Amino acid sequence: MLTSSQIKQFQKYGYTLLDDLYSAQEMDKLKSTAHQIVHEFDPNSTRSVFSTNDQDKNRDAYFLSSEDKVRCFFEEDAFNSKGELNQDKSLSINKIGHALHQLVDEFKDFSHSTKISKIAKQLGLEKPQIHQSMYIFKQPKIGGVIRWHQDASYFLTDPISVTTFWFAIEDATIQNGCLQVQSSKEVFPLKEQFIRYTDDSTELKTLHQLPWPKDETAVPLEVKKGTLVVFNGLLPHFSAPNLSDKSRHAYTLHVTCANTEYSAENWLRATPSPLF
Ligand code: FE2
Repeated sequence: MLTSSQIKQFQKYGYTLLDDLYSAQEMDKLKSTAHQIVHEFDPNSTRSVFSTNDQDKNRDAYFLSSEDKVRCFFEEDAFNSKGELNQDKSLSINKIGHALHQLVDEFKDFSHSTKISKIAKQLGLEKPQIHQSMYIFKQPKIGGVIRWHQDASYFLTDPISVTTFWFAIEDATIQNGCLQVQSSKEVFPLKEQFIRYTDDSTELKTLHQLPWPKDETAVPLEVKKGTLVVFNGLLPHFSAPNLSDKSRHAYTLHVTCANTEYSAENWLRATPSPLF
């Protein structure tokens, strides 16, 4: 599945790309399932938005209790000053999280496919297990920025093992806010740890003062629908706001190795699913 040069690229730079791994039809099937979940979602049931600007410091109960559920989160700019949606709910959702891989058949089958487990094996992941799944919409015009971060901040294990599988459900371009990653092959030490305390308060703790890479030095991963981007938990990455008129849908899985120690301070404590 992975070529030796893709494996080398992953080991050297912390990420690799698999173009055309999935057909347009396979991606469209996940997209229509996501649309169906939004169709059934009552927009008056919550006003919970997902933003990485300041909310990493204090996530709400709706977020924290979504670890074993399928919930919709709004884009930060979805509402007007009166608190009403500016556009249809189908164009207002930031993401669906965080247990699609366990609770929705289409996502469950896709996430536990032999295609993905073969890739995990080739990357040397031992006893891989899925902790989290998200369907990300990155809506036209209002798709919010995701600031520089490392995924190990949210899925800390000892030793660090989290690996992210990022599937392009639609073409991702600079214009619609594609993933952008660190260009250096230097390993960037873990800069932050997102902690959930026993009283459910949360903190984004800074572990060192090295600055994030400069935006201009990042490598934009412009990829076609059907591409898989896989990257390790220490790779700094971000995505710019989507100011274009095209959405940028993606599906993601966060996988750790069961032979590592999962931090008791991680926010997500739901039982993971073995990848195979
Ligand atoms: Fe991330």
